[in-house]
Amino acid sequence: MEKMKTVFSGIQPSGNLTIGNYLGAMKNFSKFSEDYNTFYCVVDMHAITVRQVPAELRRRTYETLALYMAAGLDEKKNTLFVQSHVPQHAELGWILDCYTMFGELSRMTQFKDKSAKNAQNINAGLFTYPALMAADILLYQTDIVPVGIDQKQHLELARDVAIRFNQIYGDTFTVPDGYISPDTMKIMSLQEPTAKMSKSDPNPNGVVYILDSKDDIMRKFKRAVTDSGSEIRYSEDKPGVSNLMSIYSAFSGKSMEEIEREFDGKGYGDFKLAVGEACADGLSKIREEFAKLIADKAHLDEVMKCGAEAAFYHARKTMSKVRRKIGFVN
Ligand code: TYM
Repeated sequence: MEKMKTVFSGIQPSGNLTIGNYLGAMKNFSKFSEDYNTFYCVVDMHAITVRQVPAELRRRTYETLALYMAAGLDEKKNTLFVQSHVPQHAELGWILDCYTMFGELSRMTQFKDKSAKNAQNINAGLFTYPALMAADILLYQTDIVPVGIDQKQHLELARDVAIRFNQIYGDTFTVPDGYISPDTMKIMSLQEPTAKMSKSDPNPNGVVYILDSKDDIMRKFKRAVTDSGSEIRYSEDKPGVSNLMSIYSAFSGKSMEEIEREFDGKGYGDFKLAVGEACADGLSKIREEFAKLIADKAHLDEVMKCGAEAAFYHARKTMSKVRRKIGFVN
């Protein structure tokens, strides 16, 4: 019998999660729950590469875990855990730092963007972030990593590092592949449809959060920037409308052609209302589930604890192999 494949992904608890995080990543996570060995991590160690308010980081760590569960990840079928609870992430992160080149890290576009945004705090962790991300993935001998397109460059680096390590020491790490959903790999800001929708966007009108109320969602979609002309058509020269169509399609299950037909002869106003409704409907169940889960801290603590124990078991196995290969005394 073929060995069950492993899936790993992570989300930073560095801000309120957006529908970009949901459609680009989280929504895909549950597809793997049944037939794969799945690890979904709240990557708090990555979050501190940018200054965080400690109480908020702690709160968001719980919230991110609760959102995983509210979005359909059953803690019995998936290993749900917090990165800093499994010390092997830091351990392998350091080791992989020594197999990741300065030049490679210098080319990372996320590093360049974040350095520009945090000019007063360009710390070493921000720079070596992709090596820690490689450690997250390689620790579990991961086959598949579901992410949005913005993580593709980091994922390729993780592959390169795995291949390099395997070449030096013989087969040690599984070389992972990305799973990037083409229709939702990059959800754009509603105010600036050429920029990615992001947790840290200073303009809240451009960002729809998973936990926004229906009123907020409707208001944001009503105000969404569209393009010149009045047609509802998916095309490169219509980034605003195309982004709204992607969101509508993801929440309603309708194809782009169906959407074009549905709004043939209708204006942007009707269209934006429909997108808002579909989004609010799609998120309402998650919001309800989330409210129940977040009210029960003891249960979340228990989930974190069990998840960390399960993750630890696998991480330790990989680490013992790595330590032996590189010549550390056991
Ligand atoms: P993060 O926390 O920025 O985002 C979490 C996930 O959401 C996706 N995403 C989007 N997808 C589509 N449209 C958007 N506008 C959008 N915004 C965010 C991201 O691609 C990501 O999949 N470095 C990672 C966290 C990480 C990780 C890992 C991921 C750490 N270790 C190991 C996978 C495997 C990050 O910053 O994601």
